[in-house]
Amino acid sequence: MVDASLLVMDAGTTSTRAMLFAPDGACLGCEQRELTQHYPEPGLVEHDAEEIWDRTLACARAMVAKAGGAERVAAIGITNQRETIVFWSRRTGRALAPAIVWQDRRTADFCRSLKEAGHEEALQQCTGLLLDPYFSASKIAWAMENWPQLRDAGGELLVGTIESWLIFRLTGGLHISDATNASRTALMDIATGRWDEELLGLFNVPEGSLPEIVDCAGRFGDTTLFGAPIPICGMAGDQQAAAIGQACLAPGDTKATYGTGAFVLTHTGAERPLSHHRLLATVAWQLGGARTYALEGSVFVAGSLIQWLRDDVGLLGSAAESEALARSVPDNGGAYIVPALAGLGAPYWEPSARAAISGLSFATGRAHIVRAALEAMAHQTHDLMTAFAADGAAWECLKVDGGMVANDWLAQDLADMLNLRVERPAFVETTALGAAMLAGVGCGLFPGLEQAAAMRGAVERFDPRLDLKTRERRLDGWKKAMAATLAR
Ligand code: G3P
Repeated sequence: MVDASLLVMDAGTTSTRAMLFAPDGACLGCEQRELTQHYPEPGLVEHDAEEIWDRTLACARAMVAKAGGAERVAAIGITNQRETIVFWSRRTGRALAPAIVWQDRRTADFCRSLKEAGHEEALQQCTGLLLDPYFSASKIAWAMENWPQLRDAGGELLVGTIESWLIFRLTGGLHISDATNASRTALMDIATGRWDEELLGLFNVPEGSLPEIVDCAGRFGDTTLFGAPIPICGMAGDQQAAAIGQACLAPGDTKATYGTGAFVLTHTGAERPLSHHRLLATVAWQLGGARTYALEGSVFVAGSLIQWLRDDVGLLGSAAESEALARSVPDNGGAYIVPALAGLGAPYWEPSARAAISGLSFATGRAHIVRAALEAMAHQTHDLMTAFAADGAAWECLKVDGGMVANDWLAQDLADMLNLRVERPAFVETTALGAAMLAGVGCGLFPGLEQAAAMRGAVERFDPRLDLKTRERRLDGWKKAMAATLAR
């Protein structure tokens, strides 16, 4: 058992993968598949839930083979893109409609009308969230109204986030969700860990379609799809898993993950927080029925900006090229990018905002624009830092991870612009590591998260070294660019 490995399924927004970990945290293998992004109309983003399942399963099969067979896998941990919502049939196990992705803005008007009708305060008190199309609830309401096959399914209809979908298929019928994922639906009372009847009514969620809310670690069920049964023992939304993987286990500990979007979580302890500065209160984890909480700042566009510059604008040959380009110029030459390609998340919450590149002149070159894109990461994080401090959760150090922070220039720019120590683990796949830690706790390999945190390896440190004047000048330019975007 002790030398058996932990299998993680990490179903993200742009790709899904499986990773294999030794109990000491060593990563033994990784298999990844891209996911097709469907954009039926501007602002709409959908996934094919069957594709997510097929590709995740294919990756997991490769990792089970690498482990030497199912008997060599101690437990499975699952982590996933949050808020994205799947509709399927309890009877056939097949998806009944496209999955509506967290980035989808189709319910912006509906959310606005609920806000105008005065529903936001009660929703925030109950769920810790705000009225924004980002969260699952309004997506479910839209789907129930617009996709008749969901109404026709009657009591057969099941609704859940990605981890629920994967678990249903892995186990052949278990319908559960962990409290971190459930806390992102805008349907769960984060104080009690239960679905809230009033919100189910407000968003027209059919009774009995939602999963049972459970802990993040435990023996949830077995899968026999790989041969010998493997227990599923860990579950968390990807941002909460990253916080665990970064060992953000004490109040004040803060991590920022720069993936498709950028998500900052500050652990706040056993008392549920309430933001007064447009941040979110969310469940950090639930173990033994007890919840710990975090404040979250969700920024919708981070790595996806670089991807867009590469794939759609053709400004970059590869994402890695951005570092050399940013270094090739002394500054941004006056160019600023406000990356509101999917509206604006925290702390602005403007679903209809649109992106802008400003401050251009004939002296602006490709390198300046790429540099401005990378600089936008620190600028957006700085806005969050201000909101966290105003909410009484000032940061002492920022633990960064995600694909983008492999870029040393970006990690240093974060330290400079935040005027804060930044720590980057040698192994930046902290989301998968966090899910492995939870699976390790759930299968009894570790007594608790503190012991599991030994799986985390060495960290590298970036200290601020930019002079105050340059920093202020840049922040001033960013504030003006953001104000112009918001005024549009
Ligand atoms: O809330 C959305 C988040 O969970 C998506 O994460 O890693 O796919 O950008 P990621």
